[in-house]
Amino acid sequence: MMELSAEHFNQLSRQIYLRLGLQFEEKKTYFLQKRVEKRMAALGYDDPQEYVFHLCYADPEAKEMQALANLITTNETYMFREYEQLEAFANCCLPEVLSAKQSRGEQRLRIWSAGCSSGEEAYTLAIILQEVFPQSQYWDCEIVATDIDQNMLAQAATGRYWWRSVRDVPAEYLEKYFIQEGETYTLRPKTASLVRVEHLNLHDRMAMRAMRNFDFIFCRNVLIYFDDQSRKTAVDQFYNSLNRGGYVFLGHSESVGRISSAFKLKRVDTHLVYAKE
Ligand SMILES: C[S@@+](CC[C@H](N)C(=O)[O-])C[C@H]1O[C@@H](n2cnc3c(N)ncnc32)[C@H](O)[C@@H]1O
Repeated sequence: MMELSAEHFNQLSRQIYLRLGLQFEEKKTYFLQKRVEKRMAALGYDDPQEYVFHLCYADPEAKEMQALANLITTNETYMFREYEQLEAFANCCLPEVLSAKQSRGEQRLRIWSAGCSSGEEAYTLAIILQEVFPQSQYWDCEIVATDIDQNMLAQAATGRYWWRSVRDVPAEYLEKYFIQEGETYTLRPKTASLVRVEHLNLHDRMAMRAMRNFDFIFCRNVLIYFDDQSRKTAVDQFYNSLNRGGYVFLGHSESVGRISSAFKLKRVDTHLVYAKE
């Protein structure tokens, strides 16, 4: 069995941090070692030094970093995760933004699920949008679902899920928005067509700059894997990506108050949201 020395671990984790913004502490050595082992087998390497060299100095198109990223990300997700926060979105923030748009005569709404994993969050938002705003079908509405992990994006693009992913979906929505075949639930085409799946590295400044004109950004349970510096870089980009009057929603345990003063922190019910005024 291959063993990753402290030096190799440091080189690899540094490279991962620089390219993906993800922080791996020393206690994750075994976790990283198992993934690196797989990649070494795929590339035919016996010595970790060969792999370190490949990843750090011979990967100009970031193909190997992408292959490793597909193995090291944490992808846990399910529909209607953090239900109460979604209620705050559905009952307060979404109606507020829609009514401001209506009064300006606008008919375009854009939502970004940043770090969407296999897409459950994005389709949840599509369901909520259709529930709260049935006229959305006459508007130009789009939910952009992005992630670094290509395997998760392929799953997201299918719009098809096992019961485990839909376990928290209210029964009436299951009936209304899904076609069930055994233990498989497929989003109905009208809902699925609201979601566009795209590859994006949140730590890639150029790619982030292209993300513009969003009314809502959901980046939940993603920034916990970043350190303060890479979190700040991503959040600063979110500010630029957001329209005035828009909101950022983070996960329960995540806060950017300490690292960004650009947003106005607002309390909606029991939840904190970040507003761009
Ligand atoms: C735990 S999942 C969160 C899924 C969903 N937002 C939720 O709350 O249920 C975290 C996702 O962030 C993605 N991620 C991690 N680092 C990323 C990066 N640098 N760029 C884009 N996505 C990243 C991972 O691939 C993973 O799918």
